[in-house]
Amino acid sequence: MPDRLDGLALLCKKYELQELTFLQFIFFAQEDRIMSLIKETYFKDEAAEVAKDNQIAVIVTGGNCDFRQMEQLLNTTGIGYFGMARPFISEPDLVNRYQKEDSERTRCNSCNGCVTKPGRKCIQDQNS
Ligand SMILES: Cc1cc2nc3c(=O)[nH]c(=O)nc-3n(C[C@H](O)[C@H](O)[C@H](O)COP(=O)(O)O)c2cc1C
Ligand code: SF4
Repeated sequence: MPDRLDGLALLCKKYELQELTFLQFIFFAQEDRIMSLIKETYFKDEAAEVAKDNQIAVIVTGGNCDFRQMEQLLNTTGIGYFGMARPFISEPDLVNRYQKEDSERTRCNSCNGCVTKPGRKCIQDQNS
C-alpha cells in the first residue's frame, strides 16, 4: 500500500472499532483529476486499496461517468457504493435511465462549466 494511504488505513481501523458506518472518497479541488476526461473514478485505486483491508462501507465519488466501469469495480473490489454529483446536474433523470438499462456514458463530461454558472446549470443545456 502506498505510504500516503497507510495513515488512512489505520484511521479506518480505528473508526471501524467505533462503528463508523461508511467512508466516502470525495475529490474536487485538484484540477488534474476533476477535469480529466480520461482518468475516471478518480479515487478508484485508493478506495479499492482501503476497502480491501476494512469492513467499513467504502463510497467513491468523483468522475463516475461510466456505468460499466462502476459495475466492474463493484464486482471486483471492496468498493460498495458510488457517489455522483455533476452527472445529476446534467441529467437529473440519470437513475431512471440506468433503471431502463440504458447504460451509456453520462452526458456530463466533467468540464466544470456548471461550477461558475449562475444556477449551477449544465452548459450543454441551451437557453439555461
Ligand atoms: C456545484 C457543485 C457544488 C459542490 N458543493 C460541494 C460541497 O458543498 N461540499 C462538498 O463536499 N462537495 C461539493 N461538491 C463536490 C462534489 O460533492 C463532488 O465531490 C465532485 O463534484 C466530484 O464528483 P462528480 O465527478 O460526481 O461531480 C460540489 C460540486 C459541484 C459541481
Ligand atoms: S457543465 Fe455540464 S458537462 Fe460540464 S461538469 Fe457541469 S454538468 Fe458536467
